[in-house]
Amino acid sequence: MRPTPYHPTPYQLTSHNLLPLLTLLPALLLAPVVAQSQAQTAPALYKDAGQSPEARAADLLGRMTLAEKIGQMTQAERGNIKDSADIAKYGFGSILSGGGSVPEGNTPANWADMIDGYQKRALSTRLAIPLLYGVDAVHGHNNVQGAVLYPHNIGLGATRNADLVRRIGRATAEEVAATGAHWTFSPCLCVVRDIRWGRSYESFGERPELASLLSSEIDGYQATPGTGSSILATAKHFVGDGGTSYGSSINPEYLLDQGDTRLTEAQLRALHLPPFQAAVKKNVASVMVSFSSVGGLKMHADKKLITDVLKGELGFKGFVISDWAGLDQISPQYDLSVRTAVNAGIDMLMVPDNYPRFVQTLTDEVKAGRVSQARIDDAALRILIQKFRFGLFERPLTDRTLAAGFGSAAHRALARQAVRESLVLLKNSGVLPISKTVPRLLVTGSNADDLGNQLGGWSLTWQGRSGNSAVGTTIAAGIRAALGSASKVDVVAAASLNPATVKTYDVGVVVVGETPYAEGKGDRSALSLSPADAAAIRSVCTAIKCVVVTVSGRPVILTDQLSSMGALVAAWLPGSEGAGVADMLFGAQPFTGRLPVTWPKNMNQLPVGQPKDASAPLFAYGAGLDR
Ligand code: BGC
Ligand code: BGC
Repeated sequence: MRPTPYHPTPYQLTSHNLLPLLTLLPALLLAPVVAQSQAQTAPALYKDAGQSPEARAADLLGRMTLAEKIGQMTQAERGNIKDSADIAKYGFGSILSGGGSVPEGNTPANWADMIDGYQKRALSTRLAIPLLYGVDAVHGHNNVQGAVLYPHNIGLGATRNADLVRRIGRATAEEVAATGAHWTFSPCLCVVRDIRWGRSYESFGERPELASLLSSEIDGYQATPGTGSSILATAKHFVGDGGTSYGSSINPEYLLDQGDTRLTEAQLRALHLPPFQAAVKKNVASVMVSFSSVGGLKMHADKKLITDVLKGELGFKGFVISDWAGLDQISPQYDLSVRTAVNAGIDMLMVPDNYPRFVQTLTDEVKAGRVSQARIDDAALRILIQKFRFGLFERPLTDRTLAAGFGSAAHRALARQAVRESLVLLKNSGVLPISKTVPRLLVTGSNADDLGNQLGGWSLTWQGRSGNSAVGTTIAAGIRAALGSASKVDVVAAASLNPATVKTYDVGVVVVGETPYAEGKGDRSALSLSPADAAAIRSVCTAIKCVVVTVSGRPVILTDQLSSMGALVAAWLPGSEGAGVADMLFGAQPFTGRLPVTWPKNMNQLPVGQPKDASAPLFAYGAGLDR
């Protein structure tokens, strides 16, 4: 369909329309008087909480100027707002915190003060439309110091437990709402097909049914919209982000990340669309478009998939948000990028920095008739409906009573349970469980006592970082806490291991794996263990009974080391509650986690579905022992 150009036709008086106009005259003359007296008695319909979100949004839309509608479509990043007066001046529909974009102090109270401050500016506008504050709470409210951080999605995929993931969504929403934010850019429903992708850890696994099942997190985030700590969820990244082809020429720097998904339409629909179907059924409030392309066309420009498939065929009623400056990637010509993105069906644009340019360009495009007024109305209406649905007009400011639940013991217990269920036991020749009365236990390896490595990306900062600056328990600390004074636990840096001392221990736990990253290709291109990790395994496992635990966002290649290991446990990126790993090493419950992705023997077994080496993998998808 071609957009209707925005050209008001000049009104012409003819003998046909003169008569009706004359009969209307008395009413027209009276109209201002009536309207005025109604304004005194009946409040505007959109202010009436008893009306449906749709009716309220339609009423409000009817009162809005083009500038106000475009304001609703604009999302700025807090750090890029040069002057807070811009919030009211542009009437932003939303503000976000990018990864690590936090208020000074980074406490829940400082967040709430910051967001309420922005909100008061939004409420000072003519129509007092509240803004949505969005955050990437992708494994708990990960930007905030002291938040409980759950296993990243890859670990949750191993649990196959939809109710657990729903409860994680609920607990996360409680912490997000406690800081005044209204909206999370989560869950990632990406289906990772090639674990060289640096965002593999954000995926629930390589098969669409995992992401469909665990889209239950949306039910947790959104709970009962408009009440308590319910927040808007985002199904992302639409669509095919986990299916990009290695070596894509679209973005050589990123290869798989922000690359090109080259599949037939039938393959795309079978592998990558079902989780979004599930999310739409759960009435997800928003969908984020992927940076990646499909068949060479940027998703941000793909009207067929966004408008025809997502909104049309799937019947998505929420609003579509762009990814971070995603529209800029459409074309070097900015006006072309803006109209292409909006006409493709994107409703809100994560600008995130140069909002004056975006607002001006979109306004010009509408005035020139290249973006229709109807498209703008549809976008603004979709955003407003969600604001009404989630009670923003009734409760625009932070409910300070929620602060008590932030980082609570109940949330930590839930995260610890999630860690237990996410671990996958891949080998056990009788070393596990370790006795709780083991006399001398050696704990070593690069990831044994490093909370940052255990958290991965999107943890306090965008990329995450090694070290123990977050609040939580490392695996080593969890092990120490689990054992009584009869056991001697030594946490030894791998570099200082020597054969004579290793031999003095009964059992060794060697925790190896990756260092934090968020995107791109991750921390390495070849997925093998670092030389230091390989050496740590060698010195412990050739000398005493040993358990190797991997802490990583994806399988690491350890084929050569496997035979030396007494036991092997994949712990993914377990988050802040390392005690959950300790629980399992001491046999708290049987292992129920199963591989959410194939564990390759070598790099030639990648990607899933079209490996160069099609022999059996080291461990198949779904593998996992009970004990
Ligand atoms: C990521 C999104 C994220 C957004 C906002 C982008 O770089 O791709 O997943 O929600 O930034 O931080
Ligand atoms: C922000 C992230 C965002 C990324 C996009 C970073 O600076 O912290 O939130 O996803 O930029 O490139």
